[in-house]
Amino acid sequence: MIVVAIDGPSGAGKSSTSKLVAQRAGWNYLDTGALYRAVAWLALREKISSAEEILAAIANNTIHFIADPKSPKVFVGDVDVTTEIRTERVTESVSVISALPEIRASLLNLQRRLINEAERGIVVEGRDIGTVVAPDAPLKIYLQADIAARAARRSTEIAAPVSSVSDSLAQRDQIDSTRAVSPLAKASDAVLIDSTELDLEETVERVWELLKERSLLGLPIV
Ligand code: DC
Repeated sequence: MIVVAIDGPSGAGKSSTSKLVAQRAGWNYLDTGALYRAVAWLALREKISSAEEILAAIANNTIHFIADPKSPKVFVGDVDVTTEIRTERVTESVSVISALPEIRASLLNLQRRLINEAERGIVVEGRDIGTVVAPDAPLKIYLQADIAARAARRSTEIAAPVSSVSDSLAQRDQIDSTRAVSPLAKASDAVLIDSTELDLEETVERVWELLKERSLLGLPIV
């Protein structure tokens, strides 16, 4: 089973690129940010903030991820939170929750389980996939873009002013890359792709070329 790790800051195009690469290869897709968002959603619902309380809540509300790149879904217990985890409230609280070492340890187990469940291959996107979650992945990408390009894309996606999106991205970049446990970082053996001047199709093509170069695609599915 092949693991492709795609790390990088928010808004660089990780999700769109990862889903398209996974679809093209006929592989699974794991959005690890969605798992952290699901935990943040649960903490808000339960009005809790300590790692201990959150771990207890996760034990009673199992987090599930449907790893289909055409329609990925995340559940907290029986509740489908796929849409709700994208609200501003969740976005604002998730960096703090994802900096808690106990939460990272708990989600690390879940991420590795989901990776092991993939049959042929899986594209995993996040911040610490190449460095911590799947350090043996045969292809690691670090996808980055200038903050101005990232803010412009996000502001179109969520229909919000570029300046406030830019401030929010900068703040999350800061928290994500300076936290003590598994901060956002490029693995030493990751291939750097800068998507500032690339559109989605070109970015997907770069990853696809790397998969071919490394003979990771195997036989096409009939
Ligand atoms: O990719 P995203 O914006 O949905 O991620 C949400 C948050 O989760 C983001 O603030 C960083 C955090 N995260 C993380 O710490 N480690 C990961 N592997 C994935 C996401």
